[in-house]
Amino acid sequence: MEFKKKILCIGAGYVGGPTMAMIAYKCPHYKVTVVDINPTRITQWNSNDLPIYEPGLDEVVKAARGRNLFFSTDVENGIRESDIIFVSVNTPTKMFGAGAGMASDLQYWEKTARKILNCADSPKIIVEKSTLPVKTALAMERILTSNGNSNQFEVLSNPEFLAEGTAIKDLEHPDRVLIGSRETESGLKAREELAEMYANWVSRERIITSNIWSSELSKLVANAFLAQRISSINSISALCEKTEADISEVARAVGMDSRIGNRFLNASVGFGGSCFRKDILNLVYLCRHYGLNEVADYWESVITINEYQKERFVINMLNAMFNTLAGKKICLFGFAFKANTGDTRESPAIFITKKLLAEKAEVIITDPKALSNARVDLEGVSGKVSYSEDPHEATTGCDAIAVLTEWDIYQNLDFKKIYQSMAKPAFIFVGRNILDHKKLFEIGFNVYPIGKPGLTHF
Ligand SMILES: NC(=O)c1ccc[n+]([C@@H]2O[C@H](COP(=O)([O-])OP(=O)(O)OC[C@H]3O[C@@H](n4cnc5c(N)ncnc54)[C@H](O)[C@@H]3O)[C@@H](O)[C@H]2O)c1
Repeated sequence: MEFKKKILCIGAGYVGGPTMAMIAYKCPHYKVTVVDINPTRITQWNSNDLPIYEPGLDEVVKAARGRNLFFSTDVENGIRESDIIFVSVNTPTKMFGAGAGMASDLQYWEKTARKILNCADSPKIIVEKSTLPVKTALAMERILTSNGNSNQFEVLSNPEFLAEGTAIKDLEHPDRVLIGSRETESGLKAREELAEMYANWVSRERIITSNIWSSELSKLVANAFLAQRISSINSISALCEKTEADISEVARAVGMDSRIGNRFLNASVGFGGSCFRKDILNLVYLCRHYGLNEVADYWESVITINEYQKERFVINMLNAMFNTLAGKKICLFGFAFKANTGDTRESPAIFITKKLLAEKAEVIITDPKALSNARVDLEGVSGKVSYSEDPHEATTGCDAIAVLTEWDIYQNLDFKKIYQSMAKPAFIFVGRNILDHKKLFEIGFNVYPIGKPGLTHF
């Protein structure tokens, strides 16, 4: 079959895989190839056991794979044969040298740029899909024009706004698709070419364009705003616990103001995921670089509150359980950073497990999708940790449960049976307010929710 365009994506991760699967699914006349330097990931993408869990992903991949969607380790050939190259490699927080712990580590990004330069033998559109510091496109352009390669490269910014757990829905019905470009003739032409691809399934009003720097910055700002809402409601949850106000009632009253809106107002044990912390740190670093210290301090406080919330959760457990956790068995309900994903990157559960182990508690972890990642995260950590897929089995003999991920399945458990199998007094610390606290209390649990008065039998 003759394809209208050939698309390549470098980086087959949580973003590259699902995003390209959706493009291939919606655009059968485009050939879409996803490449990665990690052969295990590519083998998994070519198997029936995909490397990531996302509701609906299996179906989309199965429909397009082998038809116009291909996964490969051949980066060079991929570059040579494609017209549009998405770069979706990881851009973690830099852990060394200048900017350590704050700035973006751009080494994977730069290697990709050099690879493109060395392999390309025709003009290409290069699309920044990864989240990057504002002005990265300039560096990309400089690399791509550095060795006299006469091919024309047009760099676009097209940040990805999908949320893990709802990635397929978000990709199929995005709130918006943002495409930033240079405002030159060739930049505008490339921008239109990419817009045309998305227009295969996204309405034109939702495909918005901007200058390239606004586009790069918008992604960092969107994540900063989302995280800020979580930290805002979490900071108020601490005040609720001191004053007998109820965070759910406050969130409902506040969220019904149409200027504020009701989403992202669930108090919790804190945000996780690979992006929020990293992107805010990056924003803070950029602000400091430009001498905007007040702005940097403002955004940094979003992270401070998140750390405080996780810390507070463990301290509350310790206080409630008579100031000692040594030798006590604590079962964690959920290890993924949120429901409907197996991703545990920056999950509050990692922090909480380490703190509990430091208190010499024994930790039993249950999660429907994240146990293999949890094992990797806790490799080499000293203390007693075990894993079980079955929440009933996991809680047997435990002193306490801590609900850390809002998986639906936790709402339908037989808590009576669980209570009976636990040591007494039995505690439940609800890091996500998804359970019927009154019912748990009536069963016999001592219930400690976030941002609400505790329900205890003492
Ligand atoms: N995960 C999310 O929910 C999300 C959402 C929006 C944006 N983003 C951004 O998208 C980017 C990718 O995130 P992710 O979660 O998919 O990361 P990831 O770590 O899951 O995937 C990145 C992949 O890139 C590959 N890679 C690295 N260097 C390479 C190279 N030189 N050549 C080929 N492959 C290479 C890695 O092997 C890895 O498989 C990041 O910048 C992130 O901030 C992530």
